[in-house]
Amino acid sequence: MTPETIYRAGIAGATGYTGLALVQLIQRHPRLSIGWLTSENSAGKCFNDVHAVPWAIPLIPLQDAYARARDVDVVFLCLPHGESLEAARRFAQAGVRVIDLSADFRLDTPEAYATWYGHTHADPALLARFVYGLCEINREQIRGAQLIANPGCYPSSVNLGLYPLAEAGVLGRRVVVDSKSGISGAGRSSKLLYQFVESNENLTPYNLGYRHRHIAEMELVLNGSTQAGQGEGAHRFSFNPHLLPVNQGILSTMYVSVTGGMTEQQVRQLYAERYTGEPFIHVLPAGQQATLRHVTGTNRCAISITPEDPHNPNGSDYVIVACIDNIIKGASGQALQNFNIAAGIDETAGLL
Ligand SMILES: NC(=O)c1ccc[n+]([C@@H]2O[C@H](COP(=O)([O-])OP(=O)(O)OC[C@H]3O[C@@H](n4cnc5c(N)ncnc54)[C@H](OP(=O)(O)O)[C@@H]3O)[C@@H](O)[C@H]2O)c1
Repeated sequence: MTPETIYRAGIAGATGYTGLALVQLIQRHPRLSIGWLTSENSAGKCFNDVHAVPWAIPLIPLQDAYARARDVDVVFLCLPHGESLEAARRFAQAGVRVIDLSADFRLDTPEAYATWYGHTHADPALLARFVYGLCEINREQIRGAQLIANPGCYPSSVNLGLYPLAEAGVLGRRVVVDSKSGISGAGRSSKLLYQFVESNENLTPYNLGYRHRHIAEMELVLNGSTQAGQGEGAHRFSFNPHLLPVNQGILSTMYVSVTGGMTEQQVRQLYAERYTGEPFIHVLPAGQQATLRHVTGTNRCAISITPEDPHNPNGSDYVIVACIDNIIKGASGQALQNFNIAAGIDETAGLL
């Protein structure tokens, strides 16, 4: 393909929050245009009948999109967990690049699905062909990849926030994470917990400890595999998510120890070196804290590093804060970044 090629994207599940964000991002992408959008409940309507946007793009059912698979170069699957599998299989068979935003292809083994999702994976051979698309960490595997599993929102914040320590082998075994997510993290769900009166002016913890499925992705990246679990030599996660009454944003506060007698300056140097040249990673200077405002509406991840005890220069305990926009860096923005890397075009296209 020539450098001027405009690629075409299909979005399955375009009416959800991640689908909406992808449509918005693609509208300003210099090398990508919309081929088709799917919806089951609103098929036959246009996109601007469903969302407050100016684009009258027809919505077609997924079955019709299968017949139009070859009209597009890439399909973004913005479908619920469990619904992506068959769609991925169909589009992969058609030879189209697939970027799946659901959890259906994120874990490294079928057994991990049984552990964390309560069912055996229905297509282990297809699972094995997917690359885990955490862009800053797995860039080399993503280049040219046809099948990409876009990471979960919470784990994107935690993994980017802790990866420099884990990679250097200095992340202490026990990792305690306190994460807060905006309500859009649950999708356009009508569950009682996510309704305005239930969530507004409230802060609700849920799935505390070693329960949330997203821990599997933290083990995958920070332990190198889901297999070690809570076993000997593996990092032990206490992951404590909360529902925060804002539309978008995740703030993860991570309580960790750093081994190897490193000074704060050395810890900062580790982060600076790991993330040098990364357009979307913003490591804040000493004394500043990452906040949702650093990232909302952007594809950035803001990270702040604070030694726990200011009176002990030899202290090894740190509080790391990592913030992302769950819909952008935690989903659609990262999916687009994955497309850019896989297609070999400017990684920041449509994202700055
Ligand atoms: N929200 C986040 O912050 C976030 C972050 C990372 C990853 N994700 C993952 O990304 C995926 C999409 O999330 P979302 O928040 O955009 O969800 P959402 O707002 O609930 O939207 C779901 C979309 O899927 C479509 N859909 C639902 N059931 C379907 C079925 N059986 N067949 C075909 N289409 C179906 C819906 O279409 P109609 O209702 O129009 O028919 C809608 O367009 C999920 O797997 C989610 O876990 C979400």
